[in-house]
Amino acid sequence: MDENYLTANDLDTIEKWITQVEDMHDKQMKFHRNDALKIFKLPYKLIGLGRSRFVYDLKNGYVLKIAFSFKGIKDNKSEALLYNSALPAVKKHLAAVVHHGHGWCIMVKVNESYNNKNVDLVYKLQDELLGVGINPKDLTNKRNNEPRWKNFRIDPEGHIVVIDYANFKKIKSFPLSPTPPDRI
Ligand SMILES: Nc1ncnc2c1ncn2[C@@H]1O[C@H](COP(=O)(O)OP(=O)(O)O)[C@@H](O)[C@H]1O
Ligand SMILES: [Mg+2]
Repeated sequence: MDENYLTANDLDTIEKWITQVEDMHDKQMKFHRNDALKIFKLPYKLIGLGRSRFVYDLKNGYVLKIAFSFKGIKDNKSEALLYNSALPAVKKHLAAVVHHGHGWCIMVKVNESYNNKNVDLVYKLQDELLGVGINPKDLTNKRNNEPRWKNFRIDPEGHIVVIDYANFKKIKSFPLSPTPPDRI
């Protein structure tokens, strides 16, 4: 087991899959999601189909995100990097990435029953993140500023946890952003 999250077999399957995703990208092609699902098999329940990642329930309180496109590879890397380098004030709003590798990451599972749709809380978080140097792209829709409810969950106490923050961007000119070593 890889730190008790994945078996050697899982890691082997994932590595071969990510090589296929990269080969497609080199040919300027990409898998259709349904074709990718027919090829890629892991012994876990699929609980999420994103724009560029499959999400599996590891049944231990964590989910496994697997890229099926080059963007997905970048997204898993971005989430791991952002989580690992975030200030505590930011981290408390991000579902924790506890492990990652090339093309995948393992994240804390956030309960789906958290569906308190409080718009004000979303705008408050948006301002808070901008105030600490993070542009929370995808928290709301760029066109109409509507919250993108699929990307985060709000618990009954009103605490927001973002589950898809791959497109959050550090504001380069922001003075307080710590610069982490890029270890991926
Ligand atoms: N941490 C999580 N806990 C529970 N479900 C999740 C989590 N992360 C993702 N999911 C589920 O998987 C779906 C796709 O994940 P997401 O990260 O949005 O992928 P993509 O970046 O490819 O759109 C989400 O809409 C959600 O239903
Ligand atoms: Mg998504």
